[in-house]
Amino acid sequence: MPTTTPSSSALVSSTWSSRHLLGLQSAPAPELRALLIRARDLDHASTPTGVNWSALATAEPGPLSGRIIANLFFEDSTRTRTSFAIAAARCGARVVDLAGMGSSVSKGETLVDTALNIEAMGVSALVVRAKQSGVASDIAAAVDCSVINAGDGKHEHPTQALLDVLTFAEAHTRSDSFDFSGLSLAIVGDIAGSRVARSNIAAFTALGASVFCVGPAGMAPRSLEGLGCTVARDLDDILPRVDAVMMLRIQFERYGEGAPPSAAGKPAPSSVIASIREFRDGYALTSDRAARLKPNAIIMHPGPINRGLELDEPVIDHPRSRILRQVSLGVAARMAALEACIANLHR
Ligand code: NCD
Repeated sequence: MPTTTPSSSALVSSTWSSRHLLGLQSAPAPELRALLIRARDLDHASTPTGVNWSALATAEPGPLSGRIIANLFFEDSTRTRTSFAIAAARCGARVVDLAGMGSSVSKGETLVDTALNIEAMGVSALVVRAKQSGVASDIAAAVDCSVINAGDGKHEHPTQALLDVLTFAEAHTRSDSFDFSGLSLAIVGDIAGSRVARSNIAAFTALGASVFCVGPAGMAPRSLEGLGCTVARDLDDILPRVDAVMMLRIQFERYGEGAPPSAAGKPAPSSVIASIREFRDGYALTSDRAARLKPNAIIMHPGPINRGLELDEPVIDHPRSRILRQVSLGVAARMAALEACIANLHR
């Protein structure tokens, strides 16, 4: 276990200056590293029943004891929503969970008004997921409590990128420094519509990695290079050169095609790809392609997975797959984010 001196809690509270976590596109590398080091330590101190806070040199049993955190999820979620709830509980906070469906949003209330009302009941943080880009920032501008962006439209999903970075650092033994110089990541598939990709490009490049965005033109437009990555079309050329491959889901619902009961049998979203077969031929991580990865390269996916579409079924359980480890590390990432932001609340 890495040393924690000065304590990662002290490091993050002297470094992380915002009460919000809205995105990573302008996050300075030292702030990012402090948050990651804290998350790493929280993960190491986690037990099946909670966190050994004394091992982290924290005086309190849970730094968020007595706090209430509201999950405001205006879009479906399994991993992120549950992960925030578990993270908050492990920090000693209580969680109230509000979904768009069944709330007054269905009566026409704006998301900002909903947030103001929940805040007025006395919460310390709002964890916000919404279909529209920019909603978390709009809410942050209106409220006095902390706001954590849990995914806003096609914009950002910062805690997903934190957990992805933690997974990559652990696999490549860079968790001491979070310095990714000399390492590279390929993000593959439906990138244009992906908030996960945007936050990851920002985080990995800030930490020194090279990032390739690989996909057909409709899914990986050249304009992505403005974010600091390299756009490539030939996955077979890139795959043997990278230290991790992050496969993305084809986001059928974003193309107005509805959620696929069985994605492999779905018609392609014609605005971005010609056919599912063509997509699979060029960009699926098949078992054959996985066999051509570098020996230490890892396989990641933010979930949910379209089984048999962007990944062959056996690849999901491949020895180099870290897909469930990503999910586990999500709890520590969210604990660190909640703790760091709420520490900057002066109430
Ligand atoms: C992603 C999301 O919702 O942005 N999933 C997640 O949070 N784990 C990716 C996706 O929906 O494909």
